[in-house]
Amino acid sequence: MDCCFSCLGEKKKKKKKKKKPQMVKPPLEKPQIPPAAEKAKPGGSSSSRQESLEPKEEMVLSNGAAQIFTFRELAAATNNFSADCLLGEGGFGRVYKGYLDSVSQVVAIKQLDRNGLQGNREFLVEVLMLSLLHHPNLVNLIGYCADGDQRLLVYEYMPLGSLEDHLHDPSPDKTRLDWNTRMTIAAGAAKGLEHLHDKTNPPVIYRDLKCSNILLGEGYHPKLSDFGLAKLGPVGDKTHVSTRVMGTYGYCAPEYAMTGQLTLKSDVYSYGVVLLEIITGRRAIDVTRAAGEQNLVAWISPPSSEVA
Ligand SMILES: Nc1ncnc2c1ncn2[C@@H]1O[C@H](COP(=O)(O)OP(=O)(O)OP(=O)(O)O)[C@@H](O)[C@H]1O
Ligand SMILES: [Mg+2]
Repeated sequence: MDCCFSCLGEKKKKKKKKKKPQMVKPPLEKPQIPPAAEKAKPGGSSSSRQESLEPKEEMVLSNGAAQIFTFRELAAATNNFSADCLLGEGGFGRVYKGYLDSVSQVVAIKQLDRNGLQGNREFLVEVLMLSLLHHPNLVNLIGYCADGDQRLLVYEYMPLGSLEDHLHDPSPDKTRLDWNTRMTIAAGAAKGLEHLHDKTNPPVIYRDLKCSNILLGEGYHPKLSDFGLAKLGPVGDKTHVSTRVMGTYGYCAPEYAMTGQLTLKSDVYSYGVVLLEIITGRRAIDVTRAAGEQNLVAWISPPSSEVA
Protein backbone atom coordinates (compact mmCIF):
# COMPACT_ATOMS: atom_id res chain seq x y z
CA MET A 1 0.00 0.00 0.00
CA ASP A 2 1.16 3.47 -0.76
CA CYS A 3 0.49 5.94 2.03
CA CYS A 4 0.57 9.14 0.11
CA PHE A 5 -1.26 11.39 2.45
CA SER A 6 0.19 14.73 3.30
CA CYS A 7 -0.36 17.92 5.16
CA LEU A 8 -1.93 21.13 4.14
CA GLY A 9 -0.08 24.33 3.38
CA GLU A 10 2.39 26.12 5.55
CA LYS A 11 2.78 25.12 9.14
CA LYS A 12 2.25 27.77 11.72
CA LYS A 13 4.86 27.32 14.41
CA LYS A 14 3.90 28.46 17.85
CA LYS A 15 5.55 27.37 21.06
CA LYS A 16 4.33 27.92 24.54
CA LYS A 17 7.39 29.86 25.59
CA LYS A 18 9.08 30.97 22.42
CA LYS A 19 8.12 31.14 18.78
CA LYS A 20 10.29 29.12 16.44
CA PRO A 21 11.09 30.13 12.87
CA GLN A 22 8.22 29.29 10.57
CA MET A 23 8.55 25.94 8.86
CA VAL A 24 7.33 25.47 5.34
CA LYS A 25 5.13 22.63 4.28
CA PRO A 26 3.67 22.75 0.79
CA PRO A 27 0.03 22.37 -0.10
CA LEU A 28 -2.02 19.27 0.18
CA GLU A 29 -1.49 16.45 -2.20
CA LYS A 30 -4.42 14.16 -2.83
CA PRO A 31 -4.24 10.77 -1.21
CA GLN A 32 -3.36 8.17 -3.77
CA ILE A 33 -4.97 4.84 -3.27
CA PRO A 34 -2.86 2.53 -5.41
CA PRO A 35 -4.27 -0.38 -7.37
CA ALA A 36 -4.31 -3.64 -5.47
CA ALA A 37 -1.41 -4.94 -7.58
CA GLU A 38 0.88 -2.28 -6.12
CA LYS A 39 0.14 -3.52 -2.66
CA ALA A 40 2.05 -6.71 -3.31
CA LYS A 41 5.66 -6.81 -2.25
CA PRO A 42 7.72 -7.28 -5.39
CA GLY A 43 11.20 -8.64 -5.11
CA GLY A 44 10.15 -11.25 -2.60
CA SER A 45 11.51 -9.16 0.25
CA SER A 46 10.01 -11.23 2.99
CA SER A 47 12.80 -11.34 5.52
CA SER A 48 11.55 -12.53 8.87
CA ARG A 49 13.40 -9.61 10.47
CA GLN A 50 11.19 -7.20 8.64
CA GLU A 51 7.98 -5.81 10.03
CA SER A 52 5.34 -6.15 7.35
CA LEU A 53 3.30 -3.09 6.57
CA GLU A 54 0.07 -3.93 4.91
CA PRO A 55 -2.14 -1.41 6.66
CA LYS A 56 -5.83 -1.58 5.97
CA GLU A 57 -7.45 1.55 7.25
CA GLU A 58 -10.65 -0.10 8.49
CA MET A 59 -8.70 -2.82 10.22
CA VAL A 60 -6.37 -0.47 12.04
CA LEU A 61 -9.06 1.93 13.10
CA SER A 62 -11.16 -0.83 14.55
CA ASN A 63 -8.73 -3.56 15.64
CA GLY A 64 -5.28 -1.96 15.79
CA ALA A 65 -3.21 -1.50 18.87
CA ALA A 66 -4.31 2.12 19.25
CA GLN A 67 -7.20 2.59 21.64
CA ILE A 68 -10.18 4.78 20.93
CA PHE A 69 -10.94 7.51 23.46
CA THR A 70 -13.93 9.78 23.73
CA PHE A 71 -13.50 13.54 23.64
CA ARG A 72 -14.98 13.71 27.11
CA GLU A 73 -12.27 11.39 28.48
CA LEU A 74 -9.50 13.48 26.94
CA ALA A 75 -11.03 16.74 28.14
CA ALA A 76 -11.18 15.30 31.66
CA ALA A 77 -7.55 14.14 31.38
CA THR A 78 -6.33 17.64 30.55
CA ASN A 79 -8.52 19.66 32.90
CA ASN A 80 -10.55 20.72 29.88
CA PHE A 81 -7.44 21.46 27.81
CA SER A 82 -6.31 24.05 30.30
CA ALA A 83 -3.37 26.33 29.52
CA ASP A 84 -1.59 24.87 32.55
CA CYS A 85 -1.40 21.53 30.76
CA LEU A 86 -0.07 22.95 27.48
CA LEU A 87 3.24 21.38 26.46
CA GLY A 88 3.72 23.07 23.12
CA GLU A 89 2.21 23.70 19.73
CA GLY A 90 3.12 22.62 16.22
CA GLY A 91 1.55 22.62 12.79
CA PHE A 92 -1.05 20.01 13.76
CA GLY A 93 -2.25 21.83 16.84
CA ARG A 94 -1.65 22.05 20.56
CA VAL A 95 -0.13 19.35 22.73
CA TYR A 96 -1.32 18.91 26.32
CA LYS A 97 -0.10 16.84 29.22
CA GLY A 98 -2.78 14.78 30.88
CA TYR A 99 -3.54 11.80 33.04
CA LEU A 100 -5.83 9.12 31.68
CA ASP A 101 -7.61 7.14 34.37
CA SER A 102 -8.59 4.37 31.96
CA VAL A 103 -4.97 3.48 31.24
CA SER A 104 -3.54 4.82 34.54
CA GLN A 105 -0.90 6.72 32.61
CA VAL A 106 0.43 10.22 32.07
CA VAL A 107 -0.01 11.02 28.38
CA ALA A 108 0.59 13.74 25.80
CA ILE A 109 -2.56 14.65 23.87
CA LYS A 110 -2.26 16.39 20.52
CA GLN A 111 -5.40 18.17 19.41
CA LEU A 112 -5.91 18.95 15.74
CA ASP A 113 -6.48 22.64 15.24
CA ARG A 114 -9.62 22.63 13.16
CA ASN A 115 -8.72 26.06 11.75
CA GLY A 116 -5.17 24.92 11.11
CA LEU A 117 -3.48 23.98 7.90
CA GLN A 118 -2.78 20.35 8.56
CA GLY A 119 -5.54 17.89 8.83
CA ASN A 120 -7.29 14.67 8.60
CA ARG A 121 -4.84 12.96 6.29
CA GLU A 122 -1.91 13.47 8.60
CA PHE A 123 -4.07 12.25 11.45
CA LEU A 124 -4.96 9.10 9.57
CA VAL A 125 -1.40 8.37 8.44
CA GLU A 126 -0.13 8.94 11.98
CA VAL A 127 -2.64 6.45 13.40
CA LEU A 128 -1.96 3.90 10.65
CA MET A 129 1.81 4.14 10.84
CA LEU A 130 2.15 4.14 14.60
CA SER A 131 -0.33 1.31 14.97
CA LEU A 132 1.94 -0.80 12.80
CA LEU A 133 5.39 0.42 13.76
CA HIS A 134 6.80 -0.48 17.14
CA HIS A 135 10.37 0.09 18.24
CA PRO A 136 12.09 1.44 21.36
CA ASN A 137 13.16 4.52 19.37
CA LEU A 138 9.72 5.32 17.95
CA VAL A 139 7.15 7.11 20.08
CA ASN A 140 4.26 4.97 21.25
CA LEU A 141 0.78 5.96 20.17
CA ILE A 142 -1.64 4.95 22.90
CA GLY A 143 -4.76 5.87 21.04
CA TYR A 144 -6.82 8.51 19.34
CA CYS A 145 -10.16 10.25 19.37
CA ALA A 146 -12.24 10.90 16.26
CA ASP A 147 -15.45 12.11 17.90
CA GLY A 148 -17.44 14.19 15.40
CA ASP A 149 -15.01 16.63 13.86
CA GLN A 150 -12.58 16.37 16.79
CA ARG A 151 -9.25 14.70 16.00
CA LEU A 152 -6.87 13.97 18.85
CA LEU A 153 -3.83 11.73 19.20
CA VAL A 154 -2.78 10.24 22.52
CA TYR A 155 0.91 9.44 22.99
CA GLU A 156 3.10 8.21 25.77
CA TYR A 157 4.36 11.27 27.66
CA MET A 158 8.01 12.02 26.99
CA PRO A 159 9.17 13.76 30.18
CA LEU A 160 12.22 15.55 28.79
CA GLY A 161 10.42 17.15 25.84
CA SER A 162 12.06 17.51 22.47
CA LEU A 163 15.70 17.61 21.43
CA GLU A 164 15.00 21.05 20.02
CA ASP A 165 13.99 22.31 23.47
CA HIS A 166 17.32 21.16 24.87
CA LEU A 167 19.52 22.33 22.02
CA HIS A 168 17.89 25.57 21.07
CA ASP A 169 15.43 26.69 23.76
CA PRO A 170 17.26 25.84 26.95
CA SER A 171 15.47 27.11 30.02
CA PRO A 172 17.32 27.77 33.27
CA ASP A 173 16.13 24.44 34.73
CA LYS A 174 17.67 22.45 31.87
CA THR A 175 21.30 21.43 32.00
CA ARG A 176 23.32 21.71 28.82
CA LEU A 177 23.53 18.42 26.98
CA ASP A 178 26.97 16.91 27.41
CA TRP A 179 28.79 15.28 24.52
CA ASN A 180 27.99 11.68 25.52
CA THR A 181 24.30 12.47 25.85
CA ARG A 182 24.32 14.14 22.44
CA MET A 183 25.90 11.08 20.87
CA THR A 184 23.45 8.75 22.68
CA ILE A 185 20.56 10.76 21.26
CA ALA A 186 22.07 10.71 17.77
CA ALA A 187 22.59 6.92 17.95
CA GLY A 188 19.04 6.29 19.21
CA ALA A 189 17.51 8.46 16.49
CA ALA A 190 19.58 6.53 13.93
CA LYS A 191 18.24 3.24 15.29
CA GLY A 192 14.68 4.51 14.94
CA LEU A 193 15.41 5.51 11.36
CA GLU A 194 17.12 2.20 10.65
CA HIS A 195 13.99 0.41 11.81
CA LEU A 196 11.86 2.38 9.35
CA HIS A 197 14.29 1.94 6.45
CA ASP A 198 15.77 -1.52 6.91
CA LYS A 199 13.54 -3.54 9.21
CA THR A 200 10.14 -2.55 7.86
CA ASN A 201 8.70 -4.01 4.71
CA PRO A 202 8.06 -2.09 2.57
CA PRO A 203 10.39 0.55 3.98
CA VAL A 204 8.94 3.72 5.43
CA ILE A 205 10.28 7.14 4.47
CA TYR A 206 9.78 9.36 7.49
CA ARG A 207 10.03 12.76 5.74
CA ASP A 208 9.94 14.82 8.92
CA LEU A 209 13.18 14.16 10.75
CA LYS A 210 14.12 17.26 12.74
CA CYS A 211 15.08 18.14 16.30
CA SER A 212 11.54 19.00 17.38
CA ASN A 213 10.39 15.51 16.35
CA ILE A 214 13.01 13.72 18.45
CA LEU A 215 11.36 13.38 21.84
CA LEU A 216 13.30 12.47 24.95
CA GLY A 217 12.36 10.04 27.69
CA GLU A 218 14.05 9.31 31.00
CA GLY A 219 17.82 9.23 30.61
CA TYR A 220 17.48 11.22 27.36
CA HIS A 221 16.27 8.11 25.57
CA PRO A 222 15.26 9.43 22.12
CA LYS A 223 12.16 8.49 20.15
CA LEU A 224 11.09 9.69 16.73
CA SER A 225 7.61 11.22 16.62
CA ASP A 226 5.17 12.65 14.08
CA PHE A 227 4.56 10.23 11.25
CA GLY A 228 1.85 12.21 9.50
CA LEU A 229 4.10 12.85 6.50
CA ALA A 230 5.54 9.31 6.36
CA LYS A 231 5.30 7.49 3.08
CA LEU A 232 5.92 3.95 2.02
CA GLY A 233 9.20 3.76 0.14
CA PRO A 234 10.05 2.31 -3.26
CA VAL A 235 9.75 -1.44 -3.69
CA GLY A 236 11.26 -3.86 -6.17
CA ASP A 237 13.66 -2.23 -8.59
CA LYS A 238 12.19 1.23 -8.10
CA THR A 239 14.67 3.76 -6.71
CA HIS A 240 12.26 6.45 -5.59
CA VAL A 241 8.65 7.44 -5.18
CA SER A 242 7.43 10.59 -6.88
CA THR A 243 5.52 12.92 -4.65
CA ARG A 244 4.87 16.54 -3.94
CA VAL A 245 7.73 18.04 -1.96
CA MET A 246 6.94 18.13 1.73
CA GLY A 247 8.93 18.43 4.90
CA THR A 248 10.51 21.24 6.83
CA TYR A 249 12.69 23.96 5.37
CA GLY A 250 16.32 23.41 6.28
CA TYR A 251 15.94 19.62 6.58
CA CYS A 252 14.73 18.77 3.12
CA ALA A 253 17.23 17.04 0.80
CA PRO A 254 17.97 19.35 -2.15
CA GLU A 255 17.54 16.67 -4.81
CA TYR A 256 14.10 15.80 -3.39
CA ALA A 257 13.17 19.49 -3.21
CA MET A 258 14.20 19.94 -6.84
CA THR A 259 12.72 16.80 -8.40
CA GLY A 260 9.99 15.55 -6.06
CA GLN A 261 11.69 12.16 -6.19
CA LEU A 262 11.68 10.83 -2.67
CA THR A 263 14.14 8.16 -1.55
CA LEU A 264 15.26 6.74 1.76
CA LYS A 265 18.30 8.97 1.36
CA SER A 266 16.07 12.02 1.76
CA ASP A 267 15.71 10.98 5.42
CA VAL A 268 19.44 10.39 5.66
CA TYR A 269 20.03 13.99 4.53
CA SER A 270 17.65 15.24 7.25
CA TYR A 271 19.46 13.05 9.75
CA GLY A 272 22.73 14.70 8.67
CA VAL A 273 21.24 18.12 9.37
CA VAL A 274 20.10 16.97 12.83
CA LEU A 275 23.59 15.61 13.47
CA LEU A 276 25.09 18.99 12.53
CA GLU A 277 22.71 20.70 14.95
CA ILE A 278 23.67 18.26 17.69
CA ILE A 279 27.38 18.83 17.09
CA THR A 280 27.35 22.60 16.59
CA GLY A 281 24.39 23.61 18.77
CA ARG A 282 23.20 25.79 15.85
CA ARG A 283 19.73 25.69 14.30
CA ALA A 284 19.26 24.29 10.79
CA ILE A 285 17.93 27.69 9.81
CA ASP A 286 18.61 30.73 11.97
CA VAL A 287 17.57 34.05 10.49
CA THR A 288 19.03 35.93 13.45
CA ARG A 289 22.55 35.05 12.32
CA ALA A 290 24.69 36.98 9.87
CA ALA A 291 24.15 36.46 6.16
CA GLY A 292 26.08 33.38 5.10
CA GLU A 293 25.54 31.73 8.48
CA GLN A 294 21.77 31.39 8.43
CA ASN A 295 21.63 28.02 6.71
CA LEU A 296 23.65 25.54 8.75
CA VAL A 297 24.44 23.19 5.85
CA ALA A 298 25.58 26.05 3.61
CA TRP A 299 27.63 27.56 6.43
CA ILE A 300 29.39 24.30 7.20
CA SER A 301 29.96 23.20 3.59
CA PRO A 302 33.34 23.99 2.06
CA PRO A 303 33.28 26.59 -0.73
CA SER A 304 32.63 24.93 -4.08
CA SER A 305 36.12 26.01 -5.23
CA GLU A 306 37.59 23.71 -2.57
CA VAL A 307 35.48 20.69 -3.55
CA ALA A 308 37.48 18.41 -5.85
N1 LIG B 1 4.66 12.73 23.48
C1 LIG B 1 5.07 13.91 23.94
N2 LIG B 1 5.51 14.03 25.21
C2 LIG B 1 5.92 15.21 25.68
N3 LIG B 1 5.94 16.36 24.98
C3 LIG B 1 5.50 16.32 23.70
C4 LIG B 1 5.04 15.10 23.12
N4 LIG B 1 4.68 15.35 21.84
C5 LIG B 1 4.91 16.65 21.65
N5 LIG B 1 5.39 17.25 22.75
C6 LIG B 1 5.75 18.67 22.94
O1 LIG B 1 4.92 19.47 22.14
C7 LIG B 1 5.70 20.25 21.26
C8 LIG B 1 4.95 20.42 19.95
O2 LIG B 1 4.96 19.18 19.28
P1 LIG B 1 4.43 19.07 17.80
O3 LIG B 1 4.86 17.74 17.30
O4 LIG B 1 2.98 19.38 17.75
O5 LIG B 1 5.13 20.23 17.02
P2 LIG B 1 6.59 20.36 16.45
O6 LIG B 1 7.28 19.03 16.42
O7 LIG B 1 7.26 21.46 17.20
O8 LIG B 1 6.31 20.82 14.99
P3 LIG B 1 5.72 19.97 13.81
O9 LIG B 1 4.26 20.19 13.82
O10 LIG B 1 6.38 20.53 12.62
O11 LIG B 1 6.08 18.52 14.05
C9 LIG B 1 7.04 19.51 21.12
O12 LIG B 1 8.09 20.36 20.80
C10 LIG B 1 7.19 18.92 22.52
O13 LIG B 1 7.78 19.88 23.36
MG1 LIG C 1 6.52 17.27 16.15
